Amino acid sequence: MDDLSKAQAAEKIEDLRTQIRRHEHLYYVLDMPEISDAEYDELVANLRKLENQYPDLITPDSPTMRVGGHVAPSFKEVKHITPLLSLGNVFSAEEVRDFARKVHSGLPEGTKVEYVVEPKIDGLACSLIYEKGRFVRAATRGDGTIGEDVTNNVRTIRSIPLTLQLAPGERAPGLLDVRGEVYMPRRAFMRLNAERVAADEPEFANPRNAAAGSLRQLNPQITEKRSLSFFAYAVGLGAQESHAESMEMLAKFGFRVSEGWQKAKNIEEVWQLIEKHEKVRATLAYDTDGVVIKVNAVWQQNLLGATGKDPRWAVAFKFPPEQAETTVEDIILQVGRTGVLTPTAVLTPVRLSGSTISRATLHNEDFIKEKDIRIGDRVVINKAGEIIPEVLWVVFEKRTGQEKEFTMPANCPECDWPVVRREGEAAIRCTNPHCPALGREGLIHFVSRDAMNIDGCGPAVINQLIAAELVKDSADLYLLQKEQLLNIERMGEKSAENLLAAIEESKKQSFDKLLFALGIRHVGAKVARILALQYGNIDALRQASTDELSAIRDIGPKIAESVVSYFAVPSNLDLLYRLKKLGLNMEMKGVAGTDTSHPFYGKTLVFTGTMPTLDRATAQTMAQDAGAKVSGSVSKKTDYVVAGAEAGSKLTKAQELGVKVIDETEFMRLLQQ
Ligand code: IVH
Repeated sequence: MDDLSKAQAAEKIEDLRTQIRRHEHLYYVLDMPEISDAEYDELVANLRKLENQYPDLITPDSPTMRVGGHVAPSFKEVKHITPLLSLGNVFSAEEVRDFARKVHSGLPEGTKVEYVVEPKIDGLACSLIYEKGRFVRAATRGDGTIGEDVTNNVRTIRSIPLTLQLAPGERAPGLLDVRGEVYMPRRAFMRLNAERVAADEPEFANPRNAAAGSLRQLNPQITEKRSLSFFAYAVGLGAQESHAESMEMLAKFGFRVSEGWQKAKNIEEVWQLIEKHEKVRATLAYDTDGVVIKVNAVWQQNLLGATGKDPRWAVAFKFPPEQAETTVEDIILQVGRTGVLTPTAVLTPVRLSGSTISRATLHNEDFIKEKDIRIGDRVVINKAGEIIPEVLWVVFEKRTGQEKEFTMPANCPECDWPVVRREGEAAIRCTNPHCPALGREGLIHFVSRDAMNIDGCGPAVINQLIAAELVKDSADLYLLQKEQLLNIERMGEKSAENLLAAIEESKKQSFDKLLFALGIRHVGAKVARILALQYGNIDALRQASTDELSAIRDIGPKIAESVVSYFAVPSNLDLLYRLKKLGLNMEMKGVAGTDTSHPFYGKTLVFTGTMPTLDRATAQTMAQDAGAKVSGSVSKKTDYVVAGAEAGSKLTKAQELGVKVIDETEFMRLLQQ
């Protein structure tokens, strides 16, 4: 390959790109892959190699360019070519008929109206702009007129073509504005939330929030990992004469169009299609919250126009929220890594929102009392937007008298030590500092993805390692030998080697990840990072006082106390000592914030007023990442006041005290130094 001439390389590159685009379309759009993932990866690797040799042959629409974007300080605003409309909602057959009556009254008498019915996907609207067939820009809906530029993030979505697929000889439209929904498939959503739970991060309430959170990431590499997808459902500029023809055109260009869209000759047929969609809803790989009914002919759409932001030619029929009735077979307790006993209802399995539900969280003692939930009760549960199903209410009419009241035990189900309920808390905790549940759950947390990220070490493996008495705490993981692992059930040579390699690799995890992995109460991933950046190493952090810690932005007295008490426990210090000797990272290395020569390093910044482009939270995080402390009030100790429009008393105070005042431009200039 090395001796290819440039012309030959160019040809080979184009050939690889065509092949890759075809396989991406087969895999992500049509769901009919023809080659294995490994074969696909090889094509991409070959292309990448050639492009590295001939960088001037790289084009922005190359499949290798999906994740190339840099971390942006904020999103730029984009004005849509034509506004992105929203939809009015209807909830019953009667209201659907009403919609049709209004459509007819807005059109010349006797006009035949054809409709298109399609699923309403629960994600967020996006407009994609193609110039001469090449993807150039993507924007969120925003307020309908102005959205946010999310081009680099959207580029990572594999079901979106970066170049339109054209028939031989076909010319690409000069400008095409494709509208559709960016969404997160259910499986990706469940996986993401499981990872977040393991990492002690808040779960997303539903796939829509997860999709929105993932699309609005300043770092496209994060978006890429979130497995977003896209359904096209409309054309802004460049539409055909009917909606159906536009949908056919979009499919030909290589887009996924909303699945199961169909034409209906009249409103009765529309209703039949709605019922059909409601039936298949649960079997889909993504969430839908209704059905969209659209007038097919564009001339009719234009004649009907819009009222405010809602078109008169389209409407959303919203499905009723999903609920199911089932029986509480038992109430069990799970002990978490902080020692909290969480009651969980064991349910007779029922289908709900596309999955089989057999557990529901009962949160705490008060929740059970308030709802008067008893073992044997018939209950109604829902999953409307919730990840973990919840008991809504008890069907009291169905009580037989055989139901059993549940009382919280006085002792921990894992270790039999007494439990306590602290004043002002709803949680009940085990009092045994060495409760086996703490060790087990703590280890599960330690190895989780956002902590030490040890692959192949899920809860089942942890349980086996504990049962075999191979590990008691996290340091023991690093002493494991291959022979020991081979004695474990279902652990073959290869998986043992992989596990040991993953454990070894985890020694490279940065200090903030390790700090998070330790599982100090109230120290989540974000707090761990703040502490790691602020103190730089474990010894400095160990010596910090509660007062000093609580003076840090985002660190409240609860966290401060928890950190101080963690370091006051001798067995914790012993563990840290062992981890250090084993070669784990006990200090921040080579990250922003530890560069002591950075102009913001160790400086105190105060933000006031509205900046032209940066939002306050983003700017503060950027400053903290550079090693600055961010404070809420101006004093003699303040080094910089970053002032935006309508800065008030803080600016005056800064001027009085002679503190340096800078604007957003200067802030960005210093930050980038
Ligand atoms: S059409 C004028 N079609 O629902 C037409 N919207 O509640 C405007 N949505 O903002 C949209 N699936 O984000 C249309 N098949 C579909 C849709 C759909 C989901 C979303 C879209 C819109 C919101 C309105």
